[in-house]
Amino acid sequence: MSFLVPKLHKIQGCWQPPADKSISHRALILASLAEGTSHIQNFLKAEDCLATARALKMMGIEMIEDKEGLHVIGNGLWGLKKPSHVLDVANSGTTLRLLTGLLSAQKFSSVITGDRSLVRRPTGELLKLLRSMGAHLQAHEDTYAPIHIYPPRESLKAIFCEPVHPSAQTKSAVLLAGLYAEGVTGIQETVPTRDHTERLLQYLGASLSTREGRLELQGVPFQGSPLQARSIDIPGDLSSAYFLIALTLVLPHSKLEISSVGLNPTRMGFLEALTSMGASLQCTKESEDSYEPIGSLEVSSSSLTSTKISGALSVRTIDELPLVALLATQAQGETRISDAKALRHKECDRIYAMTQELRRMGAQIEEHEDGWVISGPTRLQGTFVKSYGDHRVAMTLILAGMIAESETEIDSIDCISISFPNFLPTLLTLSK
Ligand code: S3P
Repeated sequence: MSFLVPKLHKIQGCWQPPADKSISHRALILASLAEGTSHIQNFLKAEDCLATARALKMMGIEMIEDKEGLHVIGNGLWGLKKPSHVLDVANSGTTLRLLTGLLSAQKFSSVITGDRSLVRRPTGELLKLLRSMGAHLQAHEDTYAPIHIYPPRESLKAIFCEPVHPSAQTKSAVLLAGLYAEGVTGIQETVPTRDHTERLLQYLGASLSTREGRLELQGVPFQGSPLQARSIDIPGDLSSAYFLIALTLVLPHSKLEISSVGLNPTRMGFLEALTSMGASLQCTKESEDSYEPIGSLEVSSSSLTSTKISGALSVRTIDELPLVALLATQAQGETRISDAKALRHKECDRIYAMTQELRRMGAQIEEHEDGWVISGPTRLQGTFVKSYGDHRVAMTLILAGMIAESETEIDSIDCISISFPNFLPTLLTLSK
């Protein structure tokens, strides 16, 4: 069903964002492999994370929810059971990749697949790395789900690798397989990607070291689990907060305080980009003692100028680049975004989608193979736009519609529940 975007005039207030999606997936998976019951507080009940929960439950993991949170009863490293059906992880790329790594090491076979969007997302480099560890995998055109996973002939072998395409999902899948491998699995990252898996592995007791982009994980194939159950408190999702931050910046007389948000440096690329655009932003780190840094942010309306995003900054800003594209339409000058070809393989081809839809709204946007060149400022015009079933495209276009002249209608916005089910009620509450 299509959705008519309401007009908001300002954002004001204090807000705590919903739990981090990336960390919620990892908390469930690693708690399932730990010895004992982990208490997960503030788990994100969005479609993607629920897909991970469903898949783990199908492999015999028990989860109990009460008012204190979600209790995951870990069965140790070798406690997963063969699923009775194909594991359908819907739209969740993170679930597909991480579980492919985990399932590669198991003594049972399994099949993992997803929805129309997920089966178009490549996993070629991941399959290649897992095979070099001894995994036995088959995929459509050797890259697309459904992925058939068979038990390895012997236990997996540790590898040292340098992935060509920077990806936290690929890295995490290799680390999960590495837990079961004989020897030390090493990964050298050329560009840092989000490190939530490493942090949580260390927090739960795995022997993992990180130095200058080089990770080393000791596999323990023949003993009990190296992971011990613990309390895992999930911080607020900086990626969800970024939508509210972007809107606050472009609406006049707006000011927002954000509390208990994850401030992991590998996720802060958008803040760096915004600072270079002249955004009025204050970031306060509150706690470094837990497995993830958390803190607060304060943002207020700002007049923005153009920026350049490339290289490692593009990787650190990868999920927020559609938002940068929108803000660039409101910024003075020419913004250049490059080295972001990975965007073509997200829930949709986000480079194409944002070019088409922002252009329909009057933006001056040029599509490049690995990014955009956008000139601003432009007063966007409301019109009929498409979300491509992609949660981040849908939310970005809702913001575009809110600041555009005349009305904007979006073909469908159900996909928002993938990562931020309360997106619209949150916007409406903070605009009162
Ligand atoms: C994620 C990693 C990123 C990101 C995605 C979530 C994760 O993907 O775009 O939204 O939780 O590991 P890649 O690893 O493919 O870059």
